[in-house]
This record gives sequence, structure tokens and C-alpha cells, in this order.
Amino acid sequence: MKIGVVGAGNVGATCAQHIAEQELGQEVVLLDIEEGTAQGKGLDLAQSAPVERFDTRIVGTSDPDALAGCDLIVITAGVARTPGMSRDDLLFTNAEIVRLVSENLKGVAPGAVVIVVSNPLDAMAYVAFKTTGFPPSRVVGMAGILDSARFRYFIASELDVSVEDVTAFVLGGHGDSMVLLPRYSCVAGIPLPELLDEPTIARLVQRTRDGGAEIVGHLKTGSAYYAPASAVAEMVAAVLRNKKRILPCAAYLTGQYGIHNLFMGVPVKLGAGGVEEIVEIGLTPEESAAFRFSAKAVRDSVEKLEI
Ligand code: 2OP
Repeated sequence: MKIGVVGAGNVGATCAQHIAEQELGQEVVLLDIEEGTAQGKGLDLAQSAPVERFDTRIVGTSDPDALAGCDLIVITAGVARTPGMSRDDLLFTNAEIVRLVSENLKGVAPGAVVIVVSNPLDAMAYVAFKTTGFPPSRVVGMAGILDSARFRYFIASELDVSVEDVTAFVLGGHGDSMVLLPRYSCVAGIPLPELLDEPTIARLVQRTRDGGAEIVGHLKTGSAYYAPASAVAEMVAAVLRNKKRILPCAAYLTGQYGIHNLFMGVPVKLGAGGVEEIVEIGLTPEESAAFRFSAKAVRDSVEKLEI
């Protein structure tokens, strides 16, 4: 398997590192248009191979043709937020970058599964889908795993239990309107409302919603990358090992949850074919309303792009 990672910034380079260390493919192509960045980071990563004991080959390059024949492509290219910015403030700049990347993919890797990471995530997945013309099952956005990982971490910290026993459920767009579902979030199968009172849950939900901004506030010059890259690696493994994992990802909706022609975070079955199924669950009227509100925010962004 050949994997392409587009964008050798913090998220892209850390993704390439996970993919190589887990030997998820034979070759990782790390591509960045800024001459030297991918070459330098790629070589550095390759030199860690003897110590980390992986044989995955790493190629760092600024040549878009190097993605030829990739089975899976991760798009991380784009600019990141700085303090005070919302993910939507990146809309036009990143849409153009994702469009250019996707145009290239259409030609050089027509059979690839594409995982979109650039922000604003749901709108960028839509741009990649429309530009590549790939079937919707082969374009998927990373965000739900990241948002639920943040929620899981906060729940585990609050209860002083292992993160391993905590699962969490997040739907909707990767933005301020993301929909966290405490009643579908569990500790060893016990629903969260059995373990924490409402104000505590509300506090953890809000901290999760603000999870990306909290990190941007600390870093000042960029956004999170360790947890985003881990989330991408989980998706790459699900596809390349055909695991058929049920994971929250941004998928193209054709009527599921009452939404048409939009990428939104929903539970999907992720396997060799990409999004092999969208899982629909029952929502309360309040949860449905929150999902529709989130969909409206995503649709507003997509409509601004006029694609
Ligand atoms: C985050 O939530 C960068 O959107 C990413 O941290």
C-alpha cells in the first residue's frame, strides 16, 4: 500500500510518523509545496526507522506527481488558526488549496481513498469531493475521532478512570456547533448521565467544543496536531487493514439524519472501501435540533464557496 500525506506541517508530518511507525503501508509520500520542508522532515523520519524498527519507506517531496498510484491520501494542506480565529475564517484560503490538491489527485491517484483534515473540515471535505469527482464513499473527513477523543480524555480525568474504558459519541460539524451526545457516551458501558451530574457534563461538553481553540490559545502560532494526527492514523488503519471500524467521521449525507448534499460528522463503518455504511441512530427532538443547527452552519460555509 502507498499512502500520500499532503502538507508537511505539524499535522501532516506527525501523521506520516504514525503511519510509518505502525507500518500501515509500504511507502509514505510526504508532500509539501514549500521546497525542502517535506524533504527535510521525510529524511529525518526515515532516519528514525532503525531505532523505531519500521521498514515503511518515507519519501519527502515537493513534486505532486509523486502521489501517483497512492491507495490512500491524507490532505492536511492549508493554513492553521491563530488566536481569535474560528475554523471558518480559513474558509477561502484553504478551499483554494484543497481544490488544487484535489485537482491533482483526480489525475494521479484516481483510485485513492481520501481523508480530509484541513479546516473548516466539513466544507473542505465537500470541496475535495466535488473537485475529485470521486464516489462519496472514498472521501471522508477527520474530526469526530478527535472531538470524541477530547471528550473521552476530559471524562476520564474527571472520573479518575482509565481513558481505555471511556467511549464518547459526537455528531455534526467540526465547529462550535458540534453535537456531543452524553447519553451515548459511556464508561465501561455505563452511560455518562449515570456517573456525572448535568452541570459537570455540560462543563466537559463545553470544554470539548472549545478544545481546538484552547490549544490555539496556548500555542499562539498554530493549532493542535498530536491528537489530530492520532485520529488520522486510526482512520488510515481502519481503511488499509479493512477493519470495518465504527468511527465518527465526516461523511457525505444523502438524506441520512434528514440532511442532503453535505458532509457532516456521523458514525460510519470505515473499511477498505472507505465509508462502507452510515449508521443512523435515534435522536431526541433536542439532539435532532442541535444536529440541524450544526448542519446549517456547515451549509452556510459551503454556500459561501459557490461550488
Ligand atoms: C482542532 O480542533 C485543528 O480543528 C483542529 O484542533
